[in-house]
Amino acid sequence: MRDLFDKIYKDKGPLGKWAEQAEGYFVFPKLEGPISNRMKFRGKKVITWSINDYLGLANHPEVRKVDAEAAAEYGSAYPMGARMMSGHTQLHEKLQDELASFVHKQSAYLLNFGYQGMVSTIDALVSKQDVIVYDVDAHACIIDGVRLHLGQRFTYKHNDLESIEKNLQRATKIAEQTGGGILLISEGVFGMRGEQGRLKEIVELKQKYNFRLFVDDAHGFGTLGKTGAGAGEEQGVQDDIDVYFATFAKSLASTGAFIAADKEIIDYLKYNLRSQMFAKSLQMQLVVGALKRLEMLRTMPELKNKLWENVNALQNGLKENGFDIGTTQSCVTPVYLKGSIPEAMALVKDLRENHGVFCSIVVYPVIPKGLILLRMIPTASHTLEDIEETLVAFSAIRERLENGTYKRLSASVSAAMASKE
Ligand SMILES: Cc1ncc(COP(=O)(O)O)c(C=O)c1O
Repeated sequence: MRDLFDKIYKDKGPLGKWAEQAEGYFVFPKLEGPISNRMKFRGKKVITWSINDYLGLANHPEVRKVDAEAAAEYGSAYPMGARMMSGHTQLHEKLQDELASFVHKQSAYLLNFGYQGMVSTIDALVSKQDVIVYDVDAHACIIDGVRLHLGQRFTYKHNDLESIEKNLQRATKIAEQTGGGILLISEGVFGMRGEQGRLKEIVELKQKYNFRLFVDDAHGFGTLGKTGAGAGEEQGVQDDIDVYFATFAKSLASTGAFIAADKEIIDYLKYNLRSQMFAKSLQMQLVVGALKRLEMLRTMPELKNKLWENVNALQNGLKENGFDIGTTQSCVTPVYLKGSIPEAMALVKDLRENHGVFCSIVVYPVIPKGLILLRMIPTASHTLEDIEETLVAFSAIRERLENGTYKRLSASVSAAMASKE
């Protein structure tokens, strides 16, 4: 028999094995100073393109004031206990009502964290005889929720309608045998590549197949749709989403999340969501803060307008300069380049050190080998100057990537990495 920790001592995992070269710089970087378009990285100001503060609320003076006042009034403990036992308040209910009305649903329920809440909602919605059909590129919280499911599950090819239909047919056959139902899960916006889930077409399939639709709209909430209600509103199918989810971690620049649906469904989930029944209630400071942020989303359309002005300027600028930004249909702006992991590291270092531009870097195994993805999140607090500077920087790094500079620079990184393989 082996010691349980043997595998940990031997193998730190696909990303963990690069910790020595990458930690503190490429992963777990420390961005300092007030959350904004320009923050400090290792003592130097950089333009930040990696923060999901879409509407620029994180450091908005009105938000900071309300957060501070709520912290002074309630501290970080109140209310104590789970919602069901002793952690329920009028303000929790008020926030739920306002969230429900914002996303055009009858009812809503608060979740302490989006990730944990998604896992738990999937768990509560399905029984063993039910079948789950979901996108192969789903966020980890969906995958983990599905892992809890004791019945059948099928993945479909990313956003591929033929594959969705094929898997609905397979799921229908199983559900007819087991006497269960079907839950189809999609994201409203896929956070890496920025494509919207094909909600309109999925909803059309409801004419042919009997299933319920659950949408994780983490990136769509507050950024898409006429009123900011998200990808469903943008595609004209918000009413046909059976269960809607969004986190506070992006447009609302906070912590917490919620689900929204018909009242009867939320009433059921309220009594069956294990992550909420057996965990402390969302702290009041976050509830009060979310009420303020939501009010700003409702009353200050200029925030979303400014966000989209920046998104369009950045995405059009990148395209005009010949960059491949894939098929994004949202604020998430991926820039695809070709190169190895060591080249990607040299490129990002150049971008940060010499051009003062900070964006997240995504490489294999998250995306195919040989591709480098620079993932950019434009926000309402960016300026046209930030965008122009970044476009100049990107053209410079592309030239150096193409003329082999990073290959040479990365030779030492490659050698270090080879010794780890
Ligand atoms: C698509 C998606 N779903 C769920 C989550 C988890 O939300 P939270 O950060 O509130 O746990 C995230 C990340 O924030 C996300 O991007």
